[in-house]
Amino acid sequence: SEKQMETRVREIKEELGLRLFMPGHYYQKDEVIQFADASGDSLQLAKVAAANKEAEYIVFCGVHFMAETADILSGDHQTVLLPDMRAGCSMADMADISQVEQAWDVLQETFGDTMTPLTYVNSTAAIKAFCGENEGATLTSSNARNMLKWAFQQKERILFLPDQHLGRNTAYELGIPLEQMAVWDPVNEYLEVDGHTDDVRMILWKGHCSVHEKFTMDNIHHVRSTYDDVRVIVHPECTFDVVQAADDAGSTNKIIQTIQEAPSGTTWAVGTEMNLVNRLAQEETDKHVFSLNPNMCPCLTMNRIDLPHLLWSLESILEGNPHHVIEVDEKTKKASQKALERMLHR
Ligand code: 13P
Ligand code: SF4
Repeated sequence: SEKQMETRVREIKEELGLRLFMPGHYYQKDEVIQFADASGDSLQLAKVAAANKEAEYIVFCGVHFMAETADILSGDHQTVLLPDMRAGCSMADMADISQVEQAWDVLQETFGDTMTPLTYVNSTAAIKAFCGENEGATLTSSNARNMLKWAFQQKERILFLPDQHLGRNTAYELGIPLEQMAVWDPVNEYLEVDGHTDDVRMILWKGHCSVHEKFTMDNIHHVRSTYDDVRVIVHPECTFDVVQAADDAGSTNKIIQTIQEAPSGTTWAVGTEMNLVNRLAQEETDKHVFSLNPNMCPCLTMNRIDLPHLLWSLESILEGNPHHVIEVDEKTKKASQKALERMLHR
């Protein structure tokens, strides 16, 4: 039963003590996040994973790219486990390293050596390594503005991987007009440009988050016509129109902070993953908090990490045969470290 599984997880955690460290992303289910030693957004989790040097085992409650990042930043003596290998990220899957290398070659023919590659941490280790090798960096939704500013100080253009929406929303905030943005379509190997090619400063990879794309203008019109004084806050992985029509936009962490600090009695329609919205609704009882999309929008891959998988993963450590170990090869690790460090040391 669930109670028995919870008891067993507690026992194993106690038995392993500091030999075990369990970071958990805010989008994880309650049945999992209750056991996390640290919870946070992707930037915080990258930082805590880098800071923990004592745990032998890091059981990552999040998705595959986060566990890879933990492995890249952890020491050689540390083993990273992902409780379910099917916990991937559809956005990260939209940029394959061979497609990126191909795009880079084609884009260099057009733009020469004027581009800095930036990748959202929601990408494979190979793509982080590509950015590391080409004087680029990683970023998260919490530091996107600063990282874009940094990149524009290096070179005149940015190739932004793999989320077109985070790239477009952040660049627009920094004053880059839409006409100076182009979209690279990796399927047709084609650059979609609205204005003049020479004027392009921001090249957006045509990827998106299937969870955040589900928040629509219709949803915004609906809540605005249904609730008086509703505030709409969304994640910058939402589309440009939705972010423009919302009252505020920001990373997972910013959404949490904004609602926590809001006055009692305020109403919030939130455009981000379901588990986080539900948790906020439960915790902020003096406010009315609900999902901007009535269909809730779970991240199905995040949700694959559940209590049975977590327990199975922990038992495998006790048995001396850890399952689902995430191991990035040395060469990729070294190169991707460069990209991550350019972000973490800023
Ligand atoms: P943040 O944790 O950076 O807000 O990103 C959200 C997300 O989609 C994680 O996969
Ligand atoms: Fe990937 Fe979107 Fe899920 Fe985050 S919410 S893990 S970006 S699919």
